[in-house]
Amino acid sequence: MKVSEVLQRRYSVRGYRSDPVPEELIREVFDIARLSPSGTNTQPWHISVVSGDACDRLRHELCELFDAGEPAKRGFPGGAPVDGVYLDRRRACGFGYYETMGVERKDKEGRVRIARKNFELFGAPHAAFFSMPRSFGYPQAVDMGLILQAVMLVMYEKGLGCIAQGSLADYPDPVRAIANVPDDNEIMFGVSFGYEDMDAHINTVRMTRAALDDVVSFTS
Ligand SMILES: Cc1cc2nc3c(=O)[nH]c(=O)nc-3n(C[C@H](O)[C@H](O)[C@H](O)COP(=O)(O)O)c2cc1C
Repeated sequence: MKVSEVLQRRYSVRGYRSDPVPEELIREVFDIARLSPSGTNTQPWHISVVSGDACDRLRHELCELFDAGEPAKRGFPGGAPVDGVYLDRRRACGFGYYETMGVERKDKEGRVRIARKNFELFGAPHAAFFSMPRSFGYPQAVDMGLILQAVMLVMYEKGLGCIAQGSLADYPDPVRAIANVPDDNEIMFGVSFGYEDMDAHINTVRMTRAALDDVVSFTS
């Protein structure tokens, strides 16, 4: 499958079958993704993959913190609030998602139920936590995005579903306790992955993109 085809076809998967992905295939995905380029070849990333009992324990602990209303405790700052066209796109993303799930805008409980799915890892049998040394900044964050994209593209090519989740940086303590995160690192985001549940209505959500001329300018 061509990279351009993968980009045209892929989407975030938010509903999974429970059967695990063979370890060999998981290793193959990350073995290819680790070939991603990075500034001065620093390869600042560490990826902590959790599966099986460890994944279930983590899911449980993340949900407990979410249910208790525990405030997020991110290692890296979240950045400035978005406005203008960016806020419009963010809202369209949230509302499109709620609409597909039959949750009205003013249904606060419904929205909490949907947000909780992040910490349920959307029912996926595996999750990967992407971290880099806490002293690193913007240049290495770019590299982290590159390896994230590589992981997502290779997973699609290999028949796996996945979703990037910034929300999985919210509660680093249980992740550190259960997964193998280097002491000097902070978690930037996670990826839940596995085989897509083709019957899950949640997976019918499709997000649009801004038009070419809205995001790229050509000068000659
Ligand atoms: C870095 C990053 C963080 C994301 N965090 C979340 C998240 O916490 N929860 C979620 O449901 N989706 C999350 N997403 C998925 C985006 O909402 C999704 O990629 C976007 O709406 C485009 O939709 P598509 O992936 O289906 O094409 C994240 C995506 C990226 C790239």
